[in-house]
This record gives sequence, structure tokens and C-alpha cells, in this order.
Amino acid sequence: MIQTCLFPAAGYGTRFLPATKSLPKEMLPILTKPLIHYGVDEALEAGMSNMAFVTGRGKRALEDYFDISYELEHQISGSSKESLLSEIRNLMQKCTFSFTRQKTMKGLGDAINKGRTLVGDEAFGVILADDLCINEDGVGVMSQLLEVYEKYRCSIVAVMEVDKEDVSKYGIVEGKYIEDNLLIVNDMVEKPNSNETNSNLAIIGRYILTPNIFHFLDKTKPGKNGEIQITDALLKEAKDGMVMAYKFKGKRFDCGSIKGFVEATKYFYELQYGNE
Ligand code: G1P
Repeated sequence: MIQTCLFPAAGYGTRFLPATKSLPKEMLPILTKPLIHYGVDEALEAGMSNMAFVTGRGKRALEDYFDISYELEHQISGSSKESLLSEIRNLMQKCTFSFTRQKTMKGLGDAINKGRTLVGDEAFGVILADDLCINEDGVGVMSQLLEVYEKYRCSIVAVMEVDKEDVSKYGIVEGKYIEDNLLIVNDMVEKPNSNETNSNLAIIGRYILTPNIFHFLDKTKPGKNGEIQITDALLKEAKDGMVMAYKFKGKRFDCGSIKGFVEATKYFYELQYGNE
């Protein structure tokens, strides 16, 4: 069983300016729940109850969201509105929340490395909350990764096929299939040009990482865009031992983009209110 899920949440969310000038992008709501809430739900479903956040300046709303709001709760206590808080209250009872900060933006790899103090010396999940995933007919993506982890005990990334012209937006994986949906990674490159890779298997924001990754992150130099990339550290781990890529079941919305965010909103609206 993996206890901890790490949520790198230090990014600026510039694509949603001006909304994200004072609101963390992870707090943007799909219907009534912020993106981060969906991520925490998915982690909890996978049995992870220690939620660890790497935040940055201007992200205090995340901490407040997972805390009691006495004034608000007092105001609506006994009214019909009380039930609107029951889901988040329930979540808060089942989880612990811890926070640390990434002081300078040095990339996803650096953010994950900053989470080390919260994670300890055990395997952990990673969820990038702006990749919103849902598997309507079965278990969530983190639970799927956990099942693979329990069998192979190595770092695993969730992947999906993307159009060739989109490979430059993702970490791209090449490897050898050992099961229908599972590959052993032999190459990985962060946001390649389409002529730099033959693969269209893109990493989405779900990982299970072994604590070894911190050792490789310490040795990883700035890569794409001058940032420390988790993809580069994972390639080191793949070469040294083993990393797997798992083609997940379900849907993923890129809620870091306006198009993906609107698509997710429509999808969840249909799901929740479609029959009304
Ligand atoms: C990050 C990772 C990238 C991955 C992507 C998934 O990039 O660096 O490898 O494919 O998340 O969303 P970002 O989108 O943060 O630039």
C-alpha cells in the first residue's frame, strides 16, 4: 500500500490569466469542485491518505480549502446549504494534508524533489491536478497505476496516445510492450519536436515513483526550457533499473488549457446534471 500522494502545485497557470493572478490554477472549479479536489479524490480512491502539496507564493487558498472555515460553517449550520460542504468535510476527515513550498520555479522535477521532506523514504503517487482524469466504468487512473506497482515495484508513468503534431507538448516515451497496456521504458524525452521521436505515447500527470527517484533528481541538470525535468530523471532510472509506462483506461482532460477545461466542464455537467 502506498500512503502518500504528492501534488506539485507551484505553477503560475498563466494560460488562465487574469483569473490566476490571485487564484491558484488548481482552485479553478469544474462545476462546484476545484481541480485539486478531483485529484485528492483520485488519490484517496487508490488508498493514499497522506496528501502532500508542493506549493508556492500566492497559493494559500489551497491550504485554506483543506481546512475548516469556522465562520462559514457557523453561518450555514442548520440551513439547507450545510450539505454543500459535506463532501469536502468527509474528505478532510479521511486524509492528512501537508505543505511545502518551491521557492523558485525550476521545473516539475525540482518541485517533486522539494516534496521529498513530505514523502520520506517510500514509494509515492504524483498527481498533476490540471490533468483531470476520470474512468466512469471502473477504477481511477491512480488505482490502475497502483495495481501495476504492486506487481512490478518500480516507477510507473501513465501514458496515452496523442496526435503526432502534439508530441511537443508532452514527455514522450518509447519502450517494449510486455502486456497489452504496459511497456518497459527504454527512452523518454521531454517535449520533443515531432522529428525527434517515433513514438506518440505521451506522459500524462500521473506517476508512481520509487524513492530512488530523488537520487536521480539530485543528479539531473536543467533540461528542456532550462528546467529540471522529471522525465530526464526517470530516464536515468529507466537506464539504471526499470521504469514502466502504462496506457491507462479512462479519459483525461487537459484543464491547463482553456479548451480542455471547457470540455471537462461540459463532460462533468452531462455526467452530473444530464438527466435534469
Ligand atoms: C508535465 C511533464 C510532461 C507531461 C505533462 C503532462 O509538463 O513535464 O512530461 O507530459 O506534464 O501534463 P507540463 O504540462 O507541466 O509542461
